[in-house]
Amino acid sequence: MTMTEGIRGKMRDNEQIIGRADLNDAEAILAVTTLDETDVVHAVQDNADAIFTWGYDKGERAKLDKLYEKAKTSQWNATTDLPWELDVDIEKMVRDQNLAISGSDELAPPFDLSDTPLKNWGDKEFLEFGIEAQNHLLSQFMHGEQGALLCTAKIVETVPWIDAKYYAATQVVDEARHVEVFSRYLDEKLEGNYPINAHLRMLLDDIINDSRWDMTYLGMQIMVEGLALAAFGMLHQTTSEPLLKQLLRYVMSDEARHVAFGVLSLEEYYGSLSAAELRERQEFAFEAAVRMRDRFLQQEVWQRYDIDVAPLIPLIQQDPGRILFQQLLFSKIVPNCKKLGLLDAGVTKEGEKGWLRERFEEMGVIEFEHLEDTGEEYGDLDFVAADRESA
Ligand SMILES: [Fe+2]
Ligand SMILES: [Fe+2]
Repeated sequence: MTMTEGIRGKMRDNEQIIGRADLNDAEAILAVTTLDETDVVHAVQDNADAIFTWGYDKGERAKLDKLYEKAKTSQWNATTDLPWELDVDIEKMVRDQNLAISGSDELAPPFDLSDTPLKNWGDKEFLEFGIEAQNHLLSQFMHGEQGALLCTAKIVETVPWIDAKYYAATQVVDEARHVEVFSRYLDEKLEGNYPINAHLRMLLDDIINDSRWDMTYLGMQIMVEGLALAAFGMLHQTTSEPLLKQLLRYVMSDEARHVAFGVLSLEEYYGSLSAAELRERQEFAFEAAVRMRDRFLQQEVWQRYDIDVAPLIPLIQQDPGRILFQQLLFSKIVPNCKKLGLLDAGVTKEGEKGWLRERFEEMGVIEFEHLEDTGEEYGDLDFVAADRESA
């Protein structure tokens, strides 16, 4: 069920929000698959009015204005600012990354595979799989970037404030650049790409489909881009591949602004919403969180190997390295949801726990609530400006 199919104002349970009662129900996760892989074009109804505003005064939004100025001076050129001439050694990249994450040369995952379809796999197979998985990861980044491109173009039309339209317009250019760099990297340096993951596509469709302008922000700027900012940061830290490292560094500089744009805009708007309206936002945030977590099972890679992944899922789900990685993906989302008041919205008496707080507890990510929110920290992540200053 999508958000827009839900009955507005009515509280829904897990089954109704994400289509399953148990978050870790592997069968239900794998049952969601991409059906029309071969179609190049995918149309989604965006259900929204394009809003003109005749109020051209930028008004009281000094923080948004500052962000807009920063966006104008921190632009970069994907063609000339990245070292595309470098050769990429994909095997070295996969091995180094594995070493950085697990602290071991061993590419096989650290659990007993003897009862699984991988029992005969050795270093060669795991290396090949690692290369596929890396390709899948970067392919999903590329597709997610296109989602951001479309969402931000939609925000230009739908947000009622002139200063937010200005800022969103700069983000459209940023996102075009991001699609461009990931697509070029996959095309020139790796061997092609994977189609969009079924869970990611479902989420992007839901975000575009929703008629309410703030839901585009929540789904994209807070959730998808919040996760991307954390994921790019982790990959940037663990990869030894110089072109990818520089690419991620610059994409992250932009992404931090994008998340800040979400925080600064929604902070103001959420102040005017009722408890029932905020509950819908909490549910949408939870739905997005689960969809994004599901996509990291990388089921399309397993499908390419024609391996029944079901017996492996419980092992994968208990792998401590993986659990940590999955949690860290939420290190930006949780403090930003807290800043927006979404963790505890709806609490009426002392001792009661917020609905989204409970969901994030279930997902094991609530501890990030005390980190700095991106509305404050984005300036520290502007590596483009930092490089120019030091040049
Ligand atoms: Fe982006
Ligand atoms: Fe972005």
